[in-house]
Order: sequence, then structure tokens, then C-alpha cells
Amino acid sequence: MNKEVSQELKHLKALFKGIAALGISHVPKRHLEKISDIEEKMAKKKLQATTVSLKAADLSELEQIVHKCHLCPLAQSRKNPVFGEGSKNPILMIVGEAPGREEDIQGRPFVGRSGELLTKMLRAINLERQEVFITSVVKCRPPRNRTPKKEEIEACLTYLLKQIELLDPKLILCLGATAAHTLLGTEEPLATLRGKFHQYNGIKVLVTYHPAYLLRFGGAKLVNLKRQAWHDLQLLQSEYEKIKNGAKG
Ligand code: URA
Ligand code: SF4
Repeated sequence: MNKEVSQELKHLKALFKGIAALGISHVPKRHLEKISDIEEKMAKKKLQATTVSLKAADLSELEQIVHKCHLCPLAQSRKNPVFGEGSKNPILMIVGEAPGREEDIQGRPFVGRSGELLTKMLRAINLERQEVFITSVVKCRPPRNRTPKKEEIEACLTYLLKQIELLDPKLILCLGATAAHTLLGTEEPLATLRGKFHQYNGIKVLVTYHPAYLLRFGGAKLVNLKRQAWHDLQLLQSEYEKIKNGAKG
């Protein structure tokens, strides 16, 4: 088998395992296309997708599965997987990119410098961390905080999708391009994705800058980025309060 197909099969198996095992009911279209594309290749090669008997009926079961996960190479270098935390019945779910150094050590999301800024951003719109659910696209820290690779995102995606299904949020805030591209199935730059609502499986999705990105700049650039982030946060607040006052269904 050539190397490329065997690589792809490896990813697909990880994807299949998760999807079959966790009973995902919604998979972004482009992933389905990818699956059927590779399925065809597999059929040609008369290969079977592996299935496993994992079942995640609730969030704590899912968390236990993530804690033992070795579906991608990030398992080797992590100290602790970071499943996410917060309300089990949130109106708002927040999705970052990947755990950093501090998150890896503590096993909790957004507890480093980015986390401090995120907490402040939430407070600015009258939200406390406990009211929302906070997680990231990949649950294990990439070495030296590099951007997660496509195959790592794919291997981990089933967990994020299952979290969304179980938590049933009415709003999702994507922090940064990795989260936005993963959930919205687009490669559009963040600058054009931010500032308006999108949809994922009937859920309103807002995209804004990752706090780590905001922390990289100073001066006029930072003033400009902050102004945009503030605009996004206000949009989020107004939608959040509308939903909250209409009571979560
Ligand atoms: N950045 C993320 O995207 N997630 C974390 O948990 C921490 C920093
Ligand atoms: Fe598993 Fe996700 Fe961690 Fe990879 S990043 S080992 S898929 S939990």
C-alpha cells in the first residue's frame, strides 16, 4: 500500500472509531465527503474499518474516554489531556485551539495568560466562566504550542462534536482560526469570519480573535484588534441575553 493511502487510512480509522463509537449524529459535510472518498479507496483495497465498543452516554463518560485517548501522537507528549470544563447545561460553549503549557500541567482549559484574558473578556459581558463550557479543538498540548496538525484535529474532532451534542449549547464562540475553520468547514481568513454569526448544525457560531493572538500585539494594532474583539463580544452578549431571557429550551 502506498504511504499516502496508508496514512489516510490511519486517520480514517481514528475518525471511524470515534464516530461509530460515540454515536455522532452530525459530522460536517466535508468530513463526510472525505470519509466516502476514502471509503471508496478502502473498498477497492477490500479493507474493513475498525470499530470499537466505546459508548459515551454522558459528559463524564466522554471525559474518561478522552483521558485514556491515544488516537493521535499528541498523547505521547502531553502531561494531561484537557477535556474542558464549565456548565453542563450552557447557553454558550467556547472553543479554543489547543491546551498550552499551563493547561497541560493543570489539565484545565484556559488557565494561563490567555485564560486570564478570556476570563476578563467574559466578565466584560457579564459572564462568569462557570456559566459557560470552555474547551479546545484538540484536547492534548501540541509540542512547543505549535498549531495542531490536520490529522490531529481530525483524530480529536469526534470528541468536540460529541461534546457539542451532549451539551446542546445555543451559541458557540470560536476563538481563533483553528476553531472557526474546524467547525465551519471553511478556510476563510479570520478577519472576514469574525463580526457576524454563522451556523453549525443549527447552532449560532460567532468567531473572534484568540486571546493569545491579542496578547501578541501592542500599540495601534492592539487598539484596533481590541475594538474589533469588543464589537464581537457585544454581538455575543446581545444574542446571549436574548436567549437567556427567552429561557433555554
Ligand atoms: N489556548 C487554547 O486554545 N486553549 C486552552 O485551553 C488554552 C489556551
Ligand atoms: Fe486523543 Fe485528541 Fe489527545 Fe489526540 S489530541 S490523543 S485525539 S484526546
